[in-house]
Amino acid sequence: MGGEGWGNVQWLYFYPESNQMQRQIVILGTGGTIAGVAASADDDLNYTAAQIGVDQLVAAVPGLRAFDLHCEQVAQIDSKDMSHAIWQALAQRVAHHAARADVAAIVVTHGTDTLEETAYFVQRVLAPTLPVVFTAAMRPASSAQADGPGNLLAAVRVAQSGAVTGVSVVMAGAVFAAAEVRKLHSQRLDAFGADTGPLARVDDSVSVERQTATQPALGLARVARDPSAWPRVEIVTNHASADGRIVDALLAQGVDGLIAAGTGNGSLSVGLEAALRRAQSQGVRVLRASRCALGRVASTEGSLPGCGTLSAPQARVELLLDLMAD
Ligand code: SIN
Repeated sequence: MGGEGWGNVQWLYFYPESNQMQRQIVILGTGGTIAGVAASADDDLNYTAAQIGVDQLVAAVPGLRAFDLHCEQVAQIDSKDMSHAIWQALAQRVAHHAARADVAAIVVTHGTDTLEETAYFVQRVLAPTLPVVFTAAMRPASSAQADGPGNLLAAVRVAQSGAVTGVSVVMAGAVFAAAEVRKLHSQRLDAFGADTGPLARVDDSVSVERQTATQPALGLARVARDPSAWPRVEIVTNHASADGRIVDALLAQGVDGLIAAGTGNGSLSVGLEAALRRAQSQGVRVLRASRCALGRVASTEGSLPGCGTLSAPQARVELLLDLMAD
């Protein structure tokens, strides 16, 4: 790999064939649209996610033949069905491969729908010092215009470059930090974004635009217990006529934490806020997020703490992990 710079931007180029000491890149498959199949190559909308194995996805991309890759199927699901058990297994496999001296980086193929949660979970649990690059697709693998092969190749290039360490997400030529990324669009190929923009761009080279601060790893031990015994953390949303009865229903069922996806800057209706304070007084941890697609919860409304720049699903991960410290 070689590099050069101009202003704040640094370009890194790939010469995988010329790297005599090349270390392996591990590709962990979890399913998603990137592994999806439709009845026809013209159909990008009606398909079944998670049908093709990760080794087949890799084999279908000629540009990947230049890299030393090891494929492993950790799960095979539509990511709307992501579970704590799969998060635990994925974190364990990432940690296992990250500890190998002969592994340079890890790529994870994932569905787009819960990608921002999974990527944030792995970042908070492991805070890896090597690149762990998530990628996905908006069109199934069977599509005549599938975006998965290009995203997978781009992810491997970012991984190989070492330009972005920790957990990142590569989609449509942009590289986002796990703690900043959000799925913003239900159909566009560039479905992901971040309030602060991408960390880097990737085509046949990687151009790094900025770095981002990360927090220390919470550690695998934090998530070692049986996932069926993990705390229950639910998301409730503020909306017209939100009266808080949903919170009371959750309290009656038993809940350990609540994320309130507030309006705008995390604001809550009088009824919902009162219900959340009742929950707090019964020992339930409450965090305020925003139901807006981008932006941070900057207000310090009363005693209900805000979640800063995290999306509501990422705030749920944060609270879940915090509760597991107890
Ligand atoms: C999924 O999230 O698994 C399905 C949707 C997608 O990957 O775009």
